[in-house]
Amino acid sequence: IGPDVIDIRKLYGQTGMFTYDPGFLSTASCQSAITYIDGDKGELLYRGYPIEQLATKCDYLDTCYLLLKGQLPNTDQRGDFHKLVLQHTMVNEQMQFFLRGFRRDAHPMAVLTGLVGAMSAFYHDSTDINNPEHRDVAAIRLIAKMPTLVAMAYKYGKGEPYMYPQNNLSYAGNFLRMMFGTPCEEYKVNPVIERAMDRIFILHADHEQNASTSTVRLCGSSGTNPFAAISAGVACLWGPAHGGANEACLNMLEEIQRQGGIDKVGEFMEKVKDKNSGVKLMGFGHRVYKNYDPRAKLMQETCDEVLAELGLQNDPLFKLAKALEKIALEDDYFVSRKLYPNVDFYSGIVQRAIGIPVNLFTGIFALARTVGWIAQLNEMISDPEYKIGRPRQLFTGAPRRDVA
Ligand code: ACO
Repeated sequence: IGPDVIDIRKLYGQTGMFTYDPGFLSTASCQSAITYIDGDKGELLYRGYPIEQLATKCDYLDTCYLLLKGQLPNTDQRGDFHKLVLQHTMVNEQMQFFLRGFRRDAHPMAVLTGLVGAMSAFYHDSTDINNPEHRDVAAIRLIAKMPTLVAMAYKYGKGEPYMYPQNNLSYAGNFLRMMFGTPCEEYKVNPVIERAMDRIFILHADHEQNASTSTVRLCGSSGTNPFAAISAGVACLWGPAHGGANEACLNMLEEIQRQGGIDKVGEFMEKVKDKNSGVKLMGFGHRVYKNYDPRAKLMQETCDEVLAELGLQNDPLFKLAKALEKIALEDDYFVSRKLYPNVDFYSGIVQRAIGIPVNLFTGIFALARTVGWIAQLNEMISDPEYKIGRPRQLFTGAPRRDVA
């Protein structure tokens, strides 16, 4: 046993022994060279690059290239990759009819799970997960079409006409226009909001073996098609303990605000600390970070910039969030459990200020995380030793018995 990875099969034999580790608290599910987190230091690296540098010096499509290919693009590669993604931003017109089958008040995550899964019924030339060319085309399609699908789900819910992509805009600018533009007038992209949107995408692009990524890997390990595997990731992300936390966090802030705002923060925190209440401080705590989530810091800065740009510096929810954070960082309950704000704590406030409805927050997360899911899926499938994921169990049911 040394500092390197231990091959348990060699130590114990292929099937001789297995571990029981509910929630994978201390079990690695794979080897990966994509994203590194030092939870104690609060450090996050994509392919070795600190998230702070990527968020300030690169854009989301550079980050996608990095995650997929292992290095940042040079100028030519950058231009080619941007062009390639933008060529694929339209979705098959039939998708509109599929979308129409949903109720207008359907949750966007339900719609997105369906739309992403349905892509395998539209793009037959990119469904063979074991074929690298199919995987490459599926990757570009998914990255390019996710903003279009998210915006379509939003417009459908509002009963407004869809906006086709406009490919002379940036990835984030195009998304903003598809969300907030109308066919009646030209949409002018605000560069501060565009940059903030792009940063939200970068910060959510990958996060090693979280629940949705592990779901994508497990699903893909059966040899299903890439669209089906990513759709499984979308479904998993929806949960409030994972990507759904940004929606849950904003709902929590709004509820505190309704009950009296800042004056009620102390009372709310007492409820959080009471284990019988079932109330959690949403947007706080993380399985891996036992220090400040670096994404939360960047998100807080973005929040400052966006609120200043929109003249919302006095936003009561932002003030509320800051007050909650201040109390939590000084309270023994949170300090002793190493509970710090995670990326979701401020992302909802930024998105709400931009005009994104609360029930679409997790859809934005899914859009951004798609590249991470694909990179992780590719890494798994490219490993010649990959096997179908098949956890074992400790059986606790009835022993064999006979029907009378
Ligand atoms: N509020 C209050 N108490 C908390 C919180 C919280 N947000 N998070 C953890 N705790 C407490 C737990 O009750 C537990 O207390 P105990 O030791 O007295 O039993 C202790 O801190 C450890 O927490 P666990 O739930 O065991 O930690 P785990 O790693 O299993 O869970 C999780 C991590 C799910 C993120 C949890 O912190 C949580 O539910 N947070 C709120 C939801 C959230 O923000 N999720 C987003 C995660 S980031 C992302 O997916 C993008």
